[in-house]
Order: sequence, then structure tokens, then C-alpha cells
Amino acid sequence: MLEKSQVDMEKIVSLSQRRGFIFQSSEIYGGLASCWDYGPLGVELKNNIKKAWWRSIVQERDDIVGIDSSILMHPKTWEASGHIQGFTDPLAECKECHLRWRIDELKSANCPNCNGELTEPQRFNLMFKTFIGPVEDKASITYLRPETAQGIFVNFHNILNTTRKRLPFGIAQIGKAFRNEITTGNFIFRSREFEQMELEYFVKPDSDEHWLNYWLEERLRWYINLGIKQGNLRLRQHGQDELAHYARNCYDIDYLFPMGWSEIEGIANRGDFDLRQHSEYSGKNLDYFDGDTNGHYFPIIIEPSAGVDRSLLAFLIDAYDEEPDKDELRVLLHLHPDLAPYKAAILPLSRRPPLVALAKDVYDSVRRHLMVSYDNSQSIGRRYRRQDEIGTPFCVTVDFESLNDNQVTIRDRDTMNQIRVPIEELTQVLIAKLAGENFVTQPLWKTE
Ligand code: GAP
Repeated sequence: MLEKSQVDMEKIVSLSQRRGFIFQSSEIYGGLASCWDYGPLGVELKNNIKKAWWRSIVQERDDIVGIDSSILMHPKTWEASGHIQGFTDPLAECKECHLRWRIDELKSANCPNCNGELTEPQRFNLMFKTFIGPVEDKASITYLRPETAQGIFVNFHNILNTTRKRLPFGIAQIGKAFRNEITTGNFIFRSREFEQMELEYFVKPDSDEHWLNYWLEERLRWYINLGIKQGNLRLRQHGQDELAHYARNCYDIDYLFPMGWSEIEGIANRGDFDLRQHSEYSGKNLDYFDGDTNGHYFPIIIEPSAGVDRSLLAFLIDAYDEEPDKDELRVLLHLHPDLAPYKAAILPLSRRPPLVALAKDVYDSVRRHLMVSYDNSQSIGRRYRRQDEIGTPFCVTVDFESLNDNQVTIRDRDTMNQIRVPIEELTQVLIAKLAGENFVTQPLWKTE
């Protein structure tokens, strides 16, 4: 098995492009910097990550509900949230080549591109500006949201009134966010259009420390349960000088990427900043009436905010492996079955019509329950390798014996062990093995 330090980003980029996980946006026009398109396998993996998050945060809990708010919001939202004033990077421009640089990342006093002299730094707002309606004047300006969180805060009372939830409770949202990032690179790690999975968890004022610690543990466990090696994850507390303008305390969940430890999720104590600000700017009081104490107050918000794209990159890197295989190299993704784009591949051993017909029947019966692929091109060895490389947990081979005994062979991606099962039980066996049943445990009906 490969050590993490041996996985370089080039291999992940090349696999992603070769197999249809991720492409450069607008590639035929030379590409659009820091924007990415997810291909047929990428969109499955991405959807599976979002599904796993939604299941653990919303579906399996009584205290959290979901929301899907619009990307465009009233421009006052961004005044209240502090983004117009505070969501900025300090930039200096080179007087020679006119490239702009983030001064907090510069290693020398001159331009890294041409060594030219730099201007005094200026604050640069990261929000994308746009216009609502046909007139492009000041009154019609709004922004593409830089975080999904604000759509939750402005709906706080709508959710409270329609669900009758009581503290502590949470509102979750998955959606696109946009930032005109200056420092880009490292593939999909930092892009200008990305997706977030955000939870705003509202708690009583004196319980914020408890809930911050609770969510740190929960969120770490989520990554580990989905297969990320514990040693490749760490928690890092922000220093006072790093805290966002709204945060009282914040931790990053960092993953050990090829370029070093970097954030995949931030877990912040936002205090009562957001509800207080929106109350002031909208004139609508967003406080909470506590029936236990008969008092009104603004709840404290604990916010676990994860990036879909960054966690997808971490899942890909963590799953990537190479093994010697005869004279070649077996490349495989040890993706967790819940995340794998295909759960199984149905492979007829040859293209002889009776085998293909049986394999198609098998495919049709399984695909009603699971996302599976069908492949009858090239040698069986090559087809196994192709599935290993995209992380398909199981390959199901339909062979000549299957025509007589109505059984098929299931091959396990990670161990390459094989078991033989009756076709009529195949879906059930696959579902059990995908849920973690020991692969070599033969089902009860195993016939010798
Ligand atoms: N609402 C809080 C918030 O937005 P953040 O730390 O700025 O906090 C949360 O962002 C997560 O969103 C990050 O941990 C990261 O996974 C993802 N993210 C932020 N900026 C990103 C970018 N430019 N490209 C990809 N993902 C990004």
C-alpha cells in the first residue's frame, strides 16, 4: 500500500481526467481558471458525498432540518453579514507586469513573476458582483453568495415557526458558493465556484463550548467512518489573528494533502453575531423565546462548514493506491462503498450471445437496486483493472458455468478474493457485502 507522501497531485489529476471524474471548465476555449466540471464518475462521487452528509446530519437526526435557499440574496444581507466590509484579501500590484499578489503570502518584497516593484497593498473584496434586472446601476447590485450560511440565518424565524423546533436545533444546507479567489491552484482545492455542506446549530448561550466539542468529534468521525485514515486528519485551532470577523473560536479539520496539511472543514463558534446583525439591518427581531425561562435572547451558533469539492479531493487521494501486478501496476481506489460511483460491474466472460444475454438479465435485475455498470469489452483482466481504478467495490463475472448452474462469481476489489453465489440471490448478497459483511463469509445457501 502506498504511503500518503507517495501520492502526488499529478496522479490524481491524471486519473480524474482519464477516467471522467473531473475536467477543466471550458477546456475547448483554453479553460477557465479555477473552475471545474465533474464528469460521469465525478458527479456520482460528489452526489454520494452529499448524500452521506445529508443522511448523517438531517435524515438520521431529530434535531436538524434541511433548507435550500437561493444563491442570490437581498444586497443588505451582505452588509449585515460583514462581507462587504470584511471579506477581503490585501493585494499588491506589480508595477511592471501588473499581476496582483496576496501580500500575506508573498515571500519577498518584489513581484514573484518578474521581480518588479509592488504597489502599496489594497483591500480586494472576494465576492462576485452582479446585477438584478435590466439596469446595471448601483441600486441593482447584488452578489453571488460566498457562503451558504446566510440563507439559513435569514430564514431562522421561518424555520422556527414552521417546525416548532426548540434549542438546541440545527438547519442544514448544501449548495454552491462563489469566491473570486486570488491564490488558486492545487486542482479543485481552491476554486472560484464550489459547493459547501453547512450546518448552523443554534444553542443556548451557556452551552456553546459543549456543542463546539460535540461537533468537532462528530465531524471527525464522519470522515473516518467513510474511510479516511485517522492519521491523515487533524484538528487545528485558529489563532486570534486568524479568526473570521464573525467568529469567537474556530477549528479547522485539516487533511494531509500532497501539498501539506490543509483545511477541508471549518467548525466555528459564530456567537450571536449573525442573528443580531440581521435583526439590526432588517428591522425584524430574530431572537428566540425560551419557554423554560420566559426570556428572549439570541442563540449562539455553532457552524460545521465543509467543502464538497475539498472533501472529494481528500477522499480520492486517501483512496488512491498502487500495487505491483505481474509486470504491471494495479491502480485502485479503495473508496468506501457508500461513495464509490458504481457499486458493482457486471462482466460477461466472453461476447458469446448466450452469455451476453444472461449477463444483461443479471445487469437489469441488479440495477433496479444499485448503481451498477456493464462492460463486455476487452479481456476480463483489463476490465477488472478498469473497475479497480474507479473504485468499484465488486465485479460480477458471468461465465460459461453460469449457463448451467445459474451462479456468478463476485470478486472483491481490495483483496481480489472471489465467491460464487446464485444469480437469484446476487442483489441481496451485494447489498450485504456493501454494508460491510465479511466478504469471504459464504452465504448460507453456498453449494459445494
Ligand atoms: N460559512 C463559513 C465558511 O464559509 P470557510 O472556512 O470560509 O467558512 C468553509 O469555508 C469550507 O468551504 C472550507 O473548509 C472549504 O472546504 C470550503 N471552501 C472555502 N473556500 C473554498 C474554495 N475557494 N474552493 C473550494 N472550497 C472552499
